[in-house]
Amino acid sequence: MYPIKKLEKLPPKREKVETLAILRQLSKSSNSLGELKGIAKTIPNQAMLINAVVLQEAKDSSEIENIITTQDELYEALTTNSKCTSEIKEVINYRSAIFLGQDMIQKQGFLRLKDIEELQNTIVENNAGIRNMPGTALKNDKTGEIVYTPPQEKNEILDLLSNFLEYYNLNQNDISPLINLAILHYQFESIHPFYDGNGRTGRILNILYLIINGLLEIPILYLSSYINENKAEYYRLLHTVNTADEWEEWILYMLKAIEETANKTIIKINLIKELLNNTIKIAQENASKIYRKELIELLFEQPYSKIDFVVNRLGVERKSGSRYLKKLEEIGILESKKIGRETIYVNTKLIEILKNR
Ligand SMILES: Nc1ncnc2c1ncn2[C@@H]1O[C@H](COP(=O)(O)OP(=O)(O)OP(=O)(O)O)[C@@H](O)[C@H]1O
Ligand SMILES: [Mg+2]
Repeated sequence: MYPIKKLEKLPPKREKVETLAILRQLSKSSNSLGELKGIAKTIPNQAMLINAVVLQEAKDSSEIENIITTQDELYEALTTNSKCTSEIKEVINYRSAIFLGQDMIQKQGFLRLKDIEELQNTIVENNAGIRNMPGTALKNDKTGEIVYTPPQEKNEILDLLSNFLEYYNLNQNDISPLINLAILHYQFESIHPFYDGNGRTGRILNILYLIINGLLEIPILYLSSYINENKAEYYRLLHTVNTADEWEEWILYMLKAIEETANKTIIKINLIKELLNNTIKIAQENASKIYRKELIELLFEQPYSKIDFVVNRLGVERKSGSRYLKKLEEIGILESKKIGRETIYVNTKLIEILKNR
């Protein structure tokens, strides 16, 4: 039963990854993703969107590792100087890794092995690097049975990684990037190059791949929530490729994940846009003396806000910053909350939108 079989280099046989069912699903997934790309562009302030959506993904992705943190705890930790738990630290690290990856792509347009190592290092906060000791095996959570043994020798791992990177960076074949994404995700997880953090690193590589291939401009399509909700299937299908070299179901799974997640994200972005416009309107009508567009945008970039943020953003005195936030609370845009000695102003309606999956 184990080791199951040697991991093959990419590419897989073309007829296995471009079946009729796959091509049919592909057009739906591509349409949804295209629509998401277009809608994301219509948000006036991209930082607003990225901050909120990235944090949600960081939380969902970390949940796969059983780190469950509430949105409130997270934002409180980010906004105040309070000490944070190791769980929150993990979510924050994941978020940093997304931004780091985005930066790498913007600067160089591709990833090197050392970049992937840096991403993983950021996520798990240790520099053990690529596995160089044997013994790593993937087990079934419940039964403890070994379901897959990744390559054990460092040389083999490095060889497979260089094949992976070649495929990742040079889209030399004319297979759709969305199909390639599914192939690459399987391959990365199966190489399992690190002792830990392979899932999280792989999920970040997915989003960066979409950006490299021009399918999105900013990192806002996150599959973690879908994978969380369909986790047994996720594991089962990875296993099917391992054992049977059958790709169809796995690729369909990933394509559906893309379609469904893109559609949900489109709805979310539309809700955010609507809330932003309403909030601007309410502020203009009921707090015209203090109304400034940047002030409202700040509340969407930082759904948990405080006087310091206003002072920095608008360049006003603390007294004014405080007055602005109080006024916005008075007219129902914000809700204040005391955390330790600090007062935090929460954009509760935005938090509600972000929370819903
Ligand atoms: N049979 C399998 N074949 C290939 N990869 C697998 C298999 N089963 C699980 N995996 C991958 O291993 C990942 C877990 O590896 P690891 O613990 O190193 O990552 P993590 O980021 O710490 O955890 P998680 O993905 O659970 O958040 C899973 O996310 C999955 O992608
Ligand atoms: Mg782990």
